[in-house]
Amino acid sequence: MKQRIYFNEVVTRDGFQMEPEFVPTDTKIQLIDDLSQCGYAKIEVTSFTSAKAIPMLRDAEEVMGRIQRAPSVEYTVLVPNVRGAERAMEVKPDEFNLVMSTSETHNLSNLRMPRENSFAALNEVIRQFGHQVPINVSLSACFGCPMEGDVSLEEVLQWSQRFADLGVRGLTICDTTGMAQPDQVAQMCEVLQKRFPSLQLTLHFHNTRGMGLANVLAAVRSGIDRFDGSLGGLGGCPYAPGASGNICSEDAIHMLDAMGYETGIDLPQLLGIARHLPGIVQHAVPGQVAKSGCTFDLHPIPAYIHDLKKDFA
Ligand code: COA
Ligand code: ZN
Repeated sequence: MKQRIYFNEVVTRDGFQMEPEFVPTDTKIQLIDDLSQCGYAKIEVTSFTSAKAIPMLRDAEEVMGRIQRAPSVEYTVLVPNVRGAERAMEVKPDEFNLVMSTSETHNLSNLRMPRENSFAALNEVIRQFGHQVPINVSLSACFGCPMEGDVSLEEVLQWSQRFADLGVRGLTICDTTGMAQPDQVAQMCEVLQKRFPSLQLTLHFHNTRGMGLANVLAAVRSGIDRFDGSLGGLGGCPYAPGASGNICSEDAIHMLDAMGYETGIDLPQLLGIARHLPGIVQHAVPGQVAKSGCTFDLHPIPAYIHDLKKDFA
């Protein structure tokens, strides 16, 4: 048996936040309850952001308050500021996932303030709530910004260090618009693991340019064991131009399963849920394994091949 890989399902947060049609609250809750039975290590349920900025997640309190929590799953929520943290605290998540961007332009576009202001706001969240709830920080645009271009490894290390110094439990390194390539991912992962051996490191890829699973593999091979993924490959930041879906959870899990990694996920059960997703969002979704079936789902052998086998016996 190879290494254990831990998955965080983000479909009801990153996955839904850019969808044009509101997904009803009851549907979100049912989906999370179903996903809770599949073996995920973590589920990112929703975000406590401004309802004007992310109208899809305006029901955050109700969703977080009504889901049935499975004891083996950690339920995390995205928090951008103290206001969001106060709202989230009311429904007692297992983790806060704070967010800011390593790109100044993307931070201004997404969070409407310079990075230093975001850092100060998140620092305040950690000061007020860090003793009550574990803190993860998602750093956006770590592999490039769609408006600024390259984001240097140094820049990512610097922001990571500042949060590490505040005592956070983990960091999620996000490729917000699918700009990462596997060699860059391997280098980033090696440097981060060396520099922050005691932090939980999670990689968050989008498949915007078809490099998502190659990037997962590069990260796994350099020792990373935590990934964000979105059911069906839905997702994207509404404030990052050209954003599109996350890596598809079930496709990534299928690949790692096939390679002998232990993901803890019941893949057939997950695929059953994934097949309902187009009905929920009312359009086709990018994920492939839910359409094609697993490599171990064999097709029946056509009758004429039995005849040919006899002829050539
Ligand atoms: N939850 C609910 N409402 C919030 C809020 C929160 N966490 N933070 C601010 N608000 C409200 C304010 O009360 C204010 O409401 P009003 O217009 O009715 O008075 C409004 O939002 C603007 O507040 P302000 O402090 O000026 O915030 P802003 O306009 O600078 O926006 C963010 C800052 C971070 C709240 C906002 O940009 C946001 O929520 N962005 C979402 C980012 C995101 O989730 N992106 C995708 C994931 S990476
Ligand atoms: Zn994302």
